[in-house]
Amino acid sequence: MEVSKVNLVDGQRANFPALEGKAYLNFGGQGVMARATLDAVRDAFEFIQKEGPFSAKTLKWISDEGERVKAALASELGGDPDCYALVQNATEGCNIVMWGINWSPDDHIVTTDAEHSGVDAAVRNLAARQGLRVSKILLSISSVDKSDDEIVAMFRDAIEERTKLVVVSHVLWNTGRRLPLAGIQAVCREAGVQLLVDGAQSAGVIPMNLSKEPIDFYTVTGHKWIGGAEGVGALIIRRELIPWLEKTFVGWRSSMNFADNAEQVASRFEVATTSFPLWTSLPVAIRVHQQWGTAQERFDKQLENVKLLRAELGRIGVVDFYSPADASSGLVSFAVRGAKTHAQIAAELEASNVMIRTVPLPDALRASVHYFSNENDISKLCEHLRACL
Ligand SMILES: Cc1ncc(COP(=O)(O)O)c(C=O)c1O
Repeated sequence: MEVSKVNLVDGQRANFPALEGKAYLNFGGQGVMARATLDAVRDAFEFIQKEGPFSAKTLKWISDEGERVKAALASELGGDPDCYALVQNATEGCNIVMWGINWSPDDHIVTTDAEHSGVDAAVRNLAARQGLRVSKILLSISSVDKSDDEIVAMFRDAIEERTKLVVVSHVLWNTGRRLPLAGIQAVCREAGVQLLVDGAQSAGVIPMNLSKEPIDFYTVTGHKWIGGAEGVGALIIRRELIPWLEKTFVGWRSSMNFADNAEQVASRFEVATTSFPLWTSLPVAIRVHQQWGTAQERFDKQLENVKLLRAELGRIGVVDFYSPADASSGLVSFAVRGAKTHAQIAAELEASNVMIRTVPLPDALRASVHYFSNENDISKLCEHLRACL
């Protein structure tokens, strides 16, 4: 489906069925799909059935749609669409990179204590099977208010002679701290170490341009802040590293490109059949956001909403923040002093149609605020939070 313009209802919120009657503040867990996005996915499933699921026309559609998805993602994140591999989620992208490096026993990985449990598990599994050493920089709580320079210095100090890979999130899922990626990438490049960035909490939030500031490996997921369907993500690889990274998972998609530049394009890491109609969700979801405003305009509005939420939560009086005072992403993590556990509070809020979640380490509640979140969502959260103290 060509996406130049999608039909939007007046006012961004009315486009999202998930926002009806709810204060939905869980975009970092899973985002919400616009009506136009849902329609496009439904249409794609129907188109494929009507054309003949395995037909020349459908195969051509799949190939064209893949290109459209990469172009749409590149219009948000920058970089050349040829450097994008379509995968199913951010963790899969991380695994492709981790297993694509030629390791020797005793090689070293630098990561942090604030990585998502799935990516952390992937690092631990890799290390156990390849006999690698892992160092974790402590970023969870102690470093939230450290300066960017101090954080970059922590990475410089952690890199050793045998370090081959640094694995880190752009935005930490537990505190919402945005990390100084350009500085970390520069330190890695100086040391000849590859950088793998988990962009699950940043893609669709942080304005970025991978053309201007290339990152070695950047993985994104489509179903959180971007508002695509679950099951669609991307691994973006710095051009020079595409032929360098080894293929681990191989199938008909990774071997069907016979062009002269087949080893120079990131699609060499795409494997086999996936739910192709879900791909359609991403160009439409991205178009919906772009029709509202530029990445910077959306981010500015989002930070305004984050500040409002912090101010309102602060008035409750028993809230301690774990997110940096100077908001830098859409995530706000906080502890609530009192007799109830955070899990109890989250469950009570959900029963009142207020959706946030708990995170471990630090033990906290986490609200995710989008640019289209509004004062009503924020006051509903605070009102119900007060009521359940
Ligand atoms: C930082 C981070 N990384 C990875 C994930 C997992 O995402 P996915 O299921 O797309 O791999 C999440 C969220 O669940 C996350 O917050």
